[in-house]
Amino acid sequence: MEFTLTEEQLAVKEAARDFAQQELLPGVIERDRDMKFAKEQIAMMGELGFLGMMVDPQYNGGGMDTLSYVVAMEEISKVDNSASVCMSVNNSLVCWGLETYGNEEQKQKYLTRLATGEWIGAFCLSEPEAGSDATSQRTTAIDMGDHYLLNGTKNWITNGGSSNLHVVIAQTDRDKGHRGINALIVETSWDGVDIGAKEDKLGIRSSDTHTIIYNDVKVPKENRIGEDGFGFKFAMKVLSGGRIGIAAQALGIAQGAYELAVKYSKERTTFGEPICNHQAIAFKLADMATEIEAARLLVYRSAWMKDQGLDYTSAASMAKLFASETAMKHTIEAVQIHGGYGYVKEYHVERLLRDAKITQIYEGTSEIQRMVISRNVLRGQLYEPILG
Ligand code: CAA
Repeated sequence: MEFTLTEEQLAVKEAARDFAQQELLPGVIERDRDMKFAKEQIAMMGELGFLGMMVDPQYNGGGMDTLSYVVAMEEISKVDNSASVCMSVNNSLVCWGLETYGNEEQKQKYLTRLATGEWIGAFCLSEPEAGSDATSQRTTAIDMGDHYLLNGTKNWITNGGSSNLHVVIAQTDRDKGHRGINALIVETSWDGVDIGAKEDKLGIRSSDTHTIIYNDVKVPKENRIGEDGFGFKFAMKVLSGGRIGIAAQALGIAQGAYELAVKYSKERTTFGEPICNHQAIAFKLADMATEIEAARLLVYRSAWMKDQGLDYTSAASMAKLFASETAMKHTIEAVQIHGGYGYVKEYHVERLLRDAKITQIYEGTSEIQRMVISRNVLRGQLYEPILG
């Protein structure tokens, strides 16, 4: 059992921390207030290799392992979760999905651009009436011979207004249920792709979340990912990996709030002492440190399992479930430790509290993660616990 990061992983962590502190921290409060997408900073993330970290260098990626991606996500999520969700969707849902299940032409044409951040990708699964129940797709991709005709509406699409490419999950043959669903690569410049209004959200306010409407969009057959009817399984497989990225985001939120709480508790004095010397605060810090470390072990292990080629479906759901609940619980505690200062924007913890909530919702709610885990428990398909 190895619990240390390699030198390369430590270097990635440090580079991500430096970038977050130097480039994302200045202006993060204003971008959140104004719902302003961090366009310049995201472009820099592309140049630095943060948008295609796991992609093979032959397609312009960083060729790194999932753990390197996770430690970078963690550092960036301590500071700016609107930037880190853009990073997570591009790396996990779009690049990884294309690299793993796309064909060579699709990789040459699209992945090479997505891996550098020249293009940004979005993953379009959720609909007004199909979020958790992902098989109930109303968006249709009708087979017209040499192309699909795409019609429908997708909701809450991260990178919706700032992406060049969408991976769209749509129903081709309703009678076939989940086996009638396809995953299509759609360029946003094509006729019939309409970007709806930007969502005004509780948290991750500067991430670019939109409704997308497809009106008779002609999608060439060569833009289907995998065999006919593979779209639902594609989405499930991609989301399992995506959940590791969001688990890392939740871990970063919790760690960021904890670090701010420790710092503040050493500076703030009440009753003649720094508040960290009061047991009421010290015990909160101890619980935060312990539970965040437990979340970290789950998150890192799920990444390690993916890199080992093991089935990580349950591990990813466990990591996301626990890390997101930890983020929610301990951002509330971090605000409490800050008292009135925690309730104002300047101290950052109120933003982290608002950002924490989305990690319990997107890429499958906590209830969906429990469904995934419990189904595997009951099927006897849960991986072997480490200690027997
Ligand atoms: N890997 C591979 N195959 C899988 C799978 C997985 N993880 N999960 C399910 N499947 C397969 C099953 O084996 C089954 O195939 P067979 O019929 O051939 O055996 C098929 O898919 C259907 O599976 P289920 O019957 O289990 O499907 P279900 O309808 O009961 O749904 C679910 C399962 C887990 C609830 C799924 O619908 C789900 O994960 N829902 C949540 C979707 C989600 O995460 N949405 C978030 C939107 S994306 C987003 O948030 C991105 C963003 O912008 C940040």
